Order: sequence, then structure tokens, then C-alpha cells
Amino acid sequence: MQLERILQKHGFGTRKGCRSLIRHHRVTVNSLACDDPFADFPVTDLIFTVDDISWPYCEHAALMLHKPTGYECSRKPQHHPSVLDLLPVPLRERGVQPIGRLDEDTTGLLLITDDGQLNHHLSSARRKVPKVYLATTKHAVDGEQIDKLLAGVLLNDEPAPIAAAAAEIAGEYLLRLTVTEGKYHQVKRMVAAAGNRVEALHRESVGELTLPADLQPGQWRWLSVADLEKLGYTV
Ligand code: URA
Repeated sequence: MQLERILQKHGFGTRKGCRSLIRHHRVTVNSLACDDPFADFPVTDLIFTVDDISWPYCEHAALMLHKPTGYECSRKPQHHPSVLDLLPVPLRERGVQPIGRLDEDTTGLLLITDDGQLNHHLSSARRKVPKVYLATTKHAVDGEQIDKLLAGVLLNDEPAPIAAAAAEIAGEYLLRLTVTEGKYHQVKRMVAAAGNRVEALHRESVGELTLPADLQPGQWRWLSVADLEKLGYTV
């Protein structure tokens, strides 16, 4: 693929803008300087840099973000900055978007991609991908609440009760809950329906993929092939 096209595909602006970056010696490919916008490269395992920042060639971008509080998951946020503001501009320009949404005050594992198939794979209600949340509660968690969550609670505007796939007491004021749907404020509403109240919410995992302990709030990282496999997605 021509270098100019590679840069454009990765969100570095128009063809003309990418050509200018290359001609101004701001780009390397596989560690070698290249100022020819029309030079052709095999894309397998290609790594390029722009202004010394490294980018792996990727047909689709797929990444995980440790979402901090105070960010909205919308591309057009209303009251807080968008989680997309935590990403480098070229990634945003590629048109990546969050897979599902976490509330502004929820923290934890958020997946972001421009791969429509991956998005569909994880969002499809039919697939019932488990999502594990750790909720800090206002009142002490007890067995009765757990039983209600496991048996199913009726939420407003839902035709039938929704049951947690798993629920356990994780501390006096801590509840670990697994849900397979992605309904609006689902965990907060389920916990309220079970007689408690969520004070803070953190998503620990999606499918078999757990938020890495060393990924700090606000930090992101590419999804590896192994990560995608944990999400049941093969490339
Ligand atoms: N359930 C909620 O209530 N909020 C979230 O952010 C995610 C799941």
C-alpha cells in the first residue's frame, strides 16, 4: 500500500496533508526514513512513526480504555468531555466509537473500535456477552438482595424480569454482578429494584477480557489477538 494511503487510513488527514507530512521527513516506516509518499509497502507487521510516535498498521482499530469518571461515552457529549478525547487525534479521526456505553460516573473497562463487525459481535443481544461490574452500595449487601438479583427483578419499561447471570457479596458494601444485557443504567436499576443503591460502579471485565491492573484510569492500549480471542472474536 502506498505510504500516503497508509497515513490517510490511520487518521492523519487528507491525502494532501499526509503527503506533506511524508515530504517533510516526519515519517519512518519499519525504522527507516521515507520521504516518498508513493512508496509502496507490504502492510503485514508494518510499523510506521509520525513525529517519533509509533503506529502499528491495523486494518481496524480496536482498543481498551480504563474509563475514568467524568467522561461521557457519546461522540457528541452533553455535560462532560467525551471518552474519545482521551485518545490521540488520529484514532478519533478514524471514527472509532465505544462498544456500548458506560455512564459518566462509571469507571473501568471500555472497548473502542472502528470495526463494525467487532462492535456487532459484542453488542448483539443474542450473543449474551457477560459483563462483570463491581458496585459500591449505599446499604450493606445481604443474601436477600443477592437472591432477588439472581431470581430476576422487574425494571420500568421492561416486559419481563431481568436476572443477573451471577451475583455475589464482595464486601459489606460491595456487590459483584454479572449481566449479559446492555440496558440503560441496567446495574443501577437492578440494584435499586433489589432494595439497595449503587454509589459507585466499576466494570471489571467483558467476556473473558479483564481490565489489566496496570492500565491506569484514562489510559488506553491496543487489543491484542489474544485479547480479541478472550472476547470470542477471531480475526
Ligand atoms: N449499568 C449501569 O447502571 N451503568 C453503567 O454504566 C453500566 C451498566
